[in-house]
Amino acid sequence: MVVWGPGNESPFEPSSPFAAAITRMFDITLVVCAIIGIGVTAVIAYSLAAFRARRGAPEPSQHTGDKRIEILWTAVPLAIVTWLFVLAVETMAKSDPQVDPPADLTVIAHQWWWEVRYPSGVVTANEIHIPVGRSLYVRVESADVVHDFSVPQLTRRMDAVPGHPNHVWLRADAPGTYGGACFEFCGLQHAWMRLRVFAEPGAAFDVWQRAQLAAAAPPSGDAAARGERVFQAQACGTCHAVEGRGFLGGVGPDLTHLVSRTTLGAGVADDTPDQLRAWLQNPQDIKPGAHMPSFNLTQEQLGELLAYLEELR
Ligand code: CUA
Repeated sequence: MVVWGPGNESPFEPSSPFAAAITRMFDITLVVCAIIGIGVTAVIAYSLAAFRARRGAPEPSQHTGDKRIEILWTAVPLAIVTWLFVLAVETMAKSDPQVDPPADLTVIAHQWWWEVRYPSGVVTANEIHIPVGRSLYVRVESADVVHDFSVPQLTRRMDAVPGHPNHVWLRADAPGTYGGACFEFCGLQHAWMRLRVFAEPGAAFDVWQRAQLAAAAPPSGDAAARGERVFQAQACGTCHAVEGRGFLGGVGPDLTHLVSRTTLGAGVADDTPDQLRAWLQNPQDIKPGAHMPSFNLTQEQLGELLAYLEELR
């Protein structure tokens, strides 16, 4: 099991102007509400102590119909609420600028993983690489049910609704790894719909993108070649694409560059040979409800398939 991190995902440490606008609004609202909460509690505490009934004391004098107090306690809350309303509208405009350029990348939510497509033709899963310091316009789609795309440090949340693409801005002002997740209950493995955003300097991003555009090479050794035949015989390619090897996929994650990714099963396991072997043996052990069944492979088939998949770099 992955110990989640070091990808930070605290909304209190924003790393984009969109996330920063939301954090600022939260901070201001928290301070305003704290002042009100402390003020009201203090007045109540003072009143309880100062005006409590004492033995033998006469009825306290009644105080009603004071226009000044009534105006004051109507005007002050109204002013605060209006201010917070203006702040919210301003934050909405900052965190979600209303422009409509063509999308820089498309994120498609699935039960229970994320498909990521770039206009360049790169297709990957559960990991988004972005050049640092550039605002990307992300088209958010869903293949099945309603999910919710969120990378708290970089962007606001955005619902992924089947048949209704939404858009959201994504940007990282500092290089690093940022954690994200699905924020709306979408079924059994909702909790394991994690994603990672890798923000890299432009040159590193270009290197990554070029590498991802390459098709898979033919298997290099005997074991890997037999592994590819297992892949074919078990019809793995019906769900999983391997670019350049005739496997078109279209249902599960594209495996052309499987080894270049850091996790399996949208974050449920580290992408290591051992974990991959365990996954191939029975995905349901690791991620119950995942749409990949167990193929009851023999140990020999497992070894060959692993040799094949480990070459998909
Ligand atoms: Cu997808 Cu929750």
